[in-house]
Amino acid sequence: MAKRHRLNKSIVYNDAPVTLQQKGTTLADDVIIVRESANLEGSVQVSGAKNSALKLMAASIIGCGKTTIGNVPLISDIAIMSDVLERLGATVERDGHELAIDTTDVNRFETPYELVTKMRASISVLGPLIARFGKAKVAMPGGCQIGARKIDMHLVGLQVLGVEFEVDHGYLVASTPHGLRGGHIFLDFPSVGATENTMMTACVAEGETIIDNAAREPEIEDLANMLNAMGAKIEGAGTSVVTIQGVPLESMHPCTHDTVGDRIEAGTFLVGGALMGGPVQVKGIDPSYLRMAIMKLEAMGCTVETTEDSVTVKREGPLQAVDIQTLPHPGFPTDLQAQFMLLATVAQGSSIITENVFENRFMFAAEITRMGADVTIDDHHAIVSGVSRLQGAPVEATDLRAGAALVLAGLAAEGETVVHKIQHIDRGYEDYVGKLVSLGGDVRRCAAHEGRRDQ
Ligand code: EPZ
Repeated sequence: MAKRHRLNKSIVYNDAPVTLQQKGTTLADDVIIVRESANLEGSVQVSGAKNSALKLMAASIIGCGKTTIGNVPLISDIAIMSDVLERLGATVERDGHELAIDTTDVNRFETPYELVTKMRASISVLGPLIARFGKAKVAMPGGCQIGARKIDMHLVGLQVLGVEFEVDHGYLVASTPHGLRGGHIFLDFPSVGATENTMMTACVAEGETIIDNAAREPEIEDLANMLNAMGAKIEGAGTSVVTIQGVPLESMHPCTHDTVGDRIEAGTFLVGGALMGGPVQVKGIDPSYLRMAIMKLEAMGCTVETTEDSVTVKREGPLQAVDIQTLPHPGFPTDLQAQFMLLATVAQGSSIITENVFENRFMFAAEITRMGADVTIDDHHAIVSGVSRLQGAPVEATDLRAGAALVLAGLAAEGETVVHKIQHIDRGYEDYVGKLVSLGGDVRRCAAHEGRRDQ
């Protein structure tokens, strides 16, 4: 009998709530089986952005009361963040894609080690806890497959606001002996997490705070919009200079806010359409979030059309090689690097893909090479020489985005591909298999021990 993991929340597959206990297996045992498909064609509604919703949930700590967040994706990271908030004393109720978070009774400012190690994004509660309590005790987040994932810039920014830190047996202990006061923060690198944590704390720091060299990702703007709806005074979010006028904590209040569409999920399906031919339309996304990815799809020989909330891609001729440099937004998103590497593996010519954001984000290359791709890694460059066909093979998801790209690879590969360790995919893609099937993909999910599909 497969080992069972206690999981309070049901993970929803294909819109039918299924608790793991009912399935008798765990996410770690499941695999995704993909077979060569004729095409991907049709429309798919993208879910709310994982990398916004997690922070919106954390921000609800600052407004004492019941905050409602809409368009929340049904993914396992959301379940973990719900657990983190409940451990702090909040109640989290879900109704479909809507979360009602009541933080009235939040009376703890410590996050447990076992939850922070499960999900790095738990560090996003650091800023809100300091804003609410003037102190926090958060387990130091570990690294992960794609890099060390340090938080030094989070700390530097918060120290400008008067926060003092010490490390106590793997926990980061924050205090504000002289209260919170605004200041001028210069980030060495436009870190998304550091921008978010300092912005959330600065909401209630006395006086003005300026965050220079701030991250410009759309999710930052989404968070600022929610904080302003809670009573904050933030300007410039989405640009590299964010200015916050502090307000009293007591004036911050709950709100209702809808999460923006997930640009990385949208980009992943657009890559599927580019790979297979399409046309594939992704709905519920602001095309301006994907300018660089759209430009690269066109450079590779695709046709792209946009409306105010959708993007459609199709391809008639062969894919052309392209060079890509991942950079902070509005540069090419590192979270689409593996997906575009997949396109490059079957493009005409050689592509050079340079990963500038994370120090170890080429694990996808080793797995796609098992499927016949020709990829050479040289430091933070990947040289990809296009091949005519990929071959199905057993492969392993090493991280969320590489896993999603491997499933797409199986659609174009000759024969059958079995993707293992798909719990990585469940972290950030709601009903990934169901959405690909709705587009005509020959994809199924099953427990690892189940037999293969009849030949
Ligand atoms: C967010 O991570 C996203 N995660 C990542 O998405 C995304 O790749 C990344 O931003 C960049 O866009 C969430 O929002 C939950 P960073 P974050 O702080 O905030 C280094 C996905 O697949 N750094 O901008 O951790 C860091 O090590 C995930 O959805 C420091 O050195 O990203 C990294 O190399 C993967 N010190 C680089 O900066 C710090 O204090 C970018 O990190 C902070 C970061």
